[in-house]
Amino acid sequence: MEEENEKRRVRIGMVGGGAIARAHVVGYRSVPLLHGLDSVEPVFSVVADATEELASQAATKLGFQSHTPNWRTLASSQDVDLVDIVAPTFLHSEVAIDAAEHGKDILCEKPMAASSGDARKMYDAAMRAGVVNAMGFNYRRLPAVLQAKKLIDEGALGKILQFRTSFMEDWGANPEMPFTWRYVSKLAGGGAVADLGSHVIDIARFLIGDLKSVCAAQDTFIRERELVEDPSKSGKVDVDDYTCALVWFESGVPGRIETSWSSVGRKVFLDFEVNGAEGSLYFNFERPNELQFYSARDPKDRQGHRTIIMGPQHPYGASFSFPATGSGAGFQDSLNNEIYEVLNAVVSSSKMKPDFYDGWKVARAVEAIQESSRSQKWVDV
Ligand SMILES: NC(=O)c1ccc[n+]([C@@H]2O[C@H](COP(=O)([O-])OP(=O)(O)OC[C@H]3O[C@@H](n4cnc5c(N)ncnc54)[C@H](O)[C@@H]3O)[C@@H](O)[C@H]2O)c1
Repeated sequence: MEEENEKRRVRIGMVGGGAIARAHVVGYRSVPLLHGLDSVEPVFSVVADATEELASQAATKLGFQSHTPNWRTLASSQDVDLVDIVAPTFLHSEVAIDAAEHGKDILCEKPMAASSGDARKMYDAAMRAGVVNAMGFNYRRLPAVLQAKKLIDEGALGKILQFRTSFMEDWGANPEMPFTWRYVSKLAGGGAVADLGSHVIDIARFLIGDLKSVCAAQDTFIRERELVEDPSKSGKVDVDDYTCALVWFESGVPGRIETSWSSVGRKVFLDFEVNGAEGSLYFNFERPNELQFYSARDPKDRQGHRTIIMGPQHPYGASFSFPATGSGAGFQDSLNNEIYEVLNAVVSSSKMKPDFYDGWKVARAVEAIQESSRSQKWVDV
């Protein structure tokens, strides 16, 4: 047992040492300072990557005490409290189920799994084990997104009538992007709809509620890509570059979810608009500190969209590195906020949202969208 005043150590086992792993590590390092979580000490215990060389490089780069080319030793290690899954999507379910069976708390990156069936198995395993099961839908941790939720819940928009969201990037439009697991449905669970769409489906559920049914169109613009190991050969892409889905929410609200990684000129264009009977909200991640709010309750001679700039008076705003209004919250802040919630949940053995239930519901929505695109019919989620 630790002394009462001693810091609670949370020993992290990270599976994957790539791009998003670095942002997670920055999060663990920043949170005690930025969020005043000084009773918790994240410990960078062990990192796993695909080979001994990659794992060793990851340990050096990210500052882990040890490394392994075999994630199974990590998931069962006595030196790990929290398994952080930042590996390619096709590994998420196997790692998470093994970690849950060893009683480890888990943070899993999106999309949760390569199929909703696998996501459901992860959820069941976490429920059986009673471990923390956090999903990495970080965009809902942005102050402006949480402020939007607050305004909707307070009734500032009146009855919600309609919802639109997009997540557009453009790296997929480059035909020279080589063939990787991201272009294989059974490994990635889908293309843009799983990779980017899972974030905005989460935001849709967070703000408006569960999806009831979907009617979607999907297309693949580049159907073959060169293999990394042999550019004279190519792999067949069987995932979407573009998806657009009309949706009905359980609440009776209609809407649209659109996503693409081939929208030339768009970088991280994640936006949403909520229209109610008495007001509207608009958010765009290109201006992450701003929330546009229009109230039909304002006097007629001054109605118009106002820009609310995020600051310490907004959710998580006091944890900006410089806590002044407009001083900025971006991608890393959303992850810091997520990791703050995860560490809190681990040390207090409490539940946190979004969790594996949410991840599974999002995975099911992705699958319903794909089914609808194939059948050209409305599909229940
Ligand atoms: N929340 C976000 O906005 C966000 C952003 C980027 C990626 N992601 C998600 O994070 C996951 C990883 O994406 P990334 O961009 O970091 O990919 P990446 O390719 O940069 O990194 C993946 C890492 O996993 C390693 N890996 C491969 N096989 C492994 C194995 N058997 N055991 C351990 N490690 C293995 C790779 O070598 C690599 O280091 C994906 O599921 C992706 O969807 C989320």
